[in-house]
Amino acid sequence: MKVRKAIFPVAGLGTRFLPATKAQPKEMLPVVDKPLIQYAVEEAYAAGIRQMIFVNGRNKRAIPDHFDTAYELEAELLASGKNELLSMVHSIKPDDMECIYIRQPKALGLGHAVLCAQCVVVNEPFAVLLADDLMVGKPPVLKQMVDQFAEWQASILAVQEVPTEHTKRYGICAGTPVSDRMMDLTHIVEKPSPEEAPSRLGVAGRYILTPGVFREIANQPRGVGGEIQLTDGIAALMRREKVFAYRYDGKRYDCGSKEGFLEANVELALQHPQLGESFRNYLRQLDV
Ligand code: UTP
Repeated sequence: MKVRKAIFPVAGLGTRFLPATKAQPKEMLPVVDKPLIQYAVEEAYAAGIRQMIFVNGRNKRAIPDHFDTAYELEAELLASGKNELLSMVHSIKPDDMECIYIRQPKALGLGHAVLCAQCVVVNEPFAVLLADDLMVGKPPVLKQMVDQFAEWQASILAVQEVPTEHTKRYGICAGTPVSDRMMDLTHIVEKPSPEEAPSRLGVAGRYILTPGVFREIANQPRGVGGEIQLTDGIAALMRREKVFAYRYDGKRYDCGSKEGFLEANVELALQHPQLGESFRNYLRQLDV
């Protein structure tokens, strides 16, 4: 089985980023010059995925507009001979990429958002990307996971070590190592306190899941924070199927938090081919 579809849950309220997220989804916040959602879609495309499924909530227009044709803008760029900008605008949605939009009527949690996409995914493995986790890796992190899926043919969660005092921010999992980077999972728990955490391995916002998870999510009562949790669905799946954790090779920026978002902007600006050098000089002369 191949991973051909990706779900992008973008219906969260983004309360940690108010007021910026009052009238737009946090996934439209730009890091340097590109919205977070575009980084995630490009990562999925680089992993060979062509069907992108967005689970939208309130403030739903900005994301479909971003991936839609912008006739006025394109005509203007064409007329003024700005061909490089025109091809950059075109490249946001390559011709062989399909975008599908689904509405999550209420922000009932990440598990519920994923369940909303069941009617499009139906019965095949799929990826889930949380665009507010900006992942930088070579090869891209989801591509690394798709390659692992080709070998193991089972659900895979991206994980990283997190500081003990941060376990309450993550799904935390534990299991038995089966290779250098892969672990056969036995436990997963959402946002445990450091005392309750089974390890320090935190789940980052990239998943490859088998369709069996839909039934498990649908059977879950509300979990931590009164939300239908994806982690609880995965914990139930683990009782029926193998689920692996993959220690990805790369760096994650938590752009759902202001600190992580600022770090991503500084580091990606420093790497930017046009801006990098002048931005580095600017930072050097800051008296901080
Ligand atoms: P978060 O846990 O970051 O929640 O969601 P949030 O509501 O977006 O942000 P805060 O905590 O209030 O600041 C993780 C991912 O799941 C999506 C979010 O859009 C984000 O990509 N999500 C969350 C949904 O699509 N629907 C939900 O009901 C909840």
